[in-house]
Amino acid sequence: MSKALDGVRILDFTHVQSGPTCTQLLAWFGADVIKVERAGAGDITREQLRDIPDVDSLYFTMLNHNKRSVTIDTKNPEGKLVLEALIQKCDVLVENFAPGALDRMGFTWERIQELNPRMIVASVKGFGPGPYEDCKVYENVAQCAGGAASTTGFDDGPPVVSGAQIGDSGTGLHLALGIVTALYQRTQTGRGQKVLAAMQDGVLNLCRVKLRDQQRLERTGTMKEYPQYPNGTFGEAVPRAGNASGGGQPGWILKCKGWETDPNAYIYFITQAPVWAKICNVIGKEEWATDPNYATPAARLPHLKDIFAEIERWTMTKTKFEAMQILNKYDIPCGPILSMKEIAEEPSLRKTGTIVEVDHPTRGKYLTVGNPIKLSDSPTEVKRSPLLGEHTDEVMTELGYSPEQISALRTAGAI
Ligand SMILES: CC(C)(COP(=O)(O)OP(=O)(O)OC[C@H]1O[C@@H](n2cnc3c(N)ncnc32)[C@H](O)[C@@H]1OP(=O)(O)O)[C@@H](O)C(=O)NCCC(=O)NCCS
Repeated sequence: MSKALDGVRILDFTHVQSGPTCTQLLAWFGADVIKVERAGAGDITREQLRDIPDVDSLYFTMLNHNKRSVTIDTKNPEGKLVLEALIQKCDVLVENFAPGALDRMGFTWERIQELNPRMIVASVKGFGPGPYEDCKVYENVAQCAGGAASTTGFDDGPPVVSGAQIGDSGTGLHLALGIVTALYQRTQTGRGQKVLAAMQDGVLNLCRVKLRDQQRLERTGTMKEYPQYPNGTFGEAVPRAGNASGGGQPGWILKCKGWETDPNAYIYFITQAPVWAKICNVIGKEEWATDPNYATPAARLPHLKDIFAEIERWTMTKTKFEAMQILNKYDIPCGPILSMKEIAEEPSLRKTGTIVEVDHPTRGKYLTVGNPIKLSDSPTEVKRSPLLGEHTDEVMTELGYSPEQISALRTAGAI
């Protein structure tokens, strides 16, 4: 079966997490992703957080499926020529080096355009143009600079970063969208273009609702769905809202049976307005459905703390899965707090290919997250990550190099 990005060749100059997430997605959609790594060393994550000695780490394997690996020393003059040949052959160059690294290597936008005017050059950087544009950035720096940390956590505690890698993987997603959009535009213009996804911008995009709230706060001085209302105080900036829902449907995380010993025996419970009467019935507070202090969303806002305390009295008598089953019967929106162990063992996620078991020649079997985006005409088959330089000879041959030339380049340390 054909794949959506069949025929698209990606020169993958990415490392660590943000860039590799992007190119992995493109590979899953069918692009031929050729990962260029430093000869002898490779992507630094191959050896980071290793759980098996001398074997590519899960960090690396889980971000580099379906790619080919070639090793080129791009600072070696002959290595540069190999890279030039690749630039001429590929449609997209994706990189997430520190600012200026690609230029220092001699591959400026102008030079790349000379070599291949159709080339799309896609970059992840920590910041866009401005005071921080030269800074190196990792995940949590982006979460802090993009507004996620200041708005996450509890009001009486410090800023908190999320386990979701919105700075790295989130920006990789943004970049992937920019690349396919640029590929589409190229079908009209015939020209390549630069695509930039700055991590601060990507995180801020995901924190859009908090900038909405900043303006609401400035205009009205309060936000009634925040836990600070009605007794706490609001300052000048959007405060941390604990586990409150972002929108107009108040929600909170509530204890379930077993919470004393199981750190994940909790459920997220949303008091959605259309099902308020059903909620009242389920928790045995039928009178709240008509009591003017509780009957309307506006009347409930000053009492949210008491309302959730009452609902929790009910959820504590059920496991999170029992509560889920009962509440779903009444269309009451809720979600169990699933541990990574529970997610890894969930049969439905295996069935859809969202969790996949992959075999690797030196590591053996491991679990990974498959393609979260499902296309009906372009199914994803998750293939193991490449060993360092596994495809150097294969790709060099495709570029037209003879076995003798390949051997000479290897002796010269260029590949
Ligand atoms: C992630 C980051 C902080 C890592 O920094 P780092 O480990 O110092 O790596 P750099 O990107 O600076 O690259 C290091 C050097 O390797 C060189 N290099 C990379 N591949 C090479 C190759 N195949 N052959 C020869 N040299 C190579 C680069 O040219 C660069 O050299 P220079 O500093 O002399 O110009 C940095 O790359 C960065 O800020 N990237 C953008 C933001 C980002 O993606 N962050 C998220 C990471 S998950």
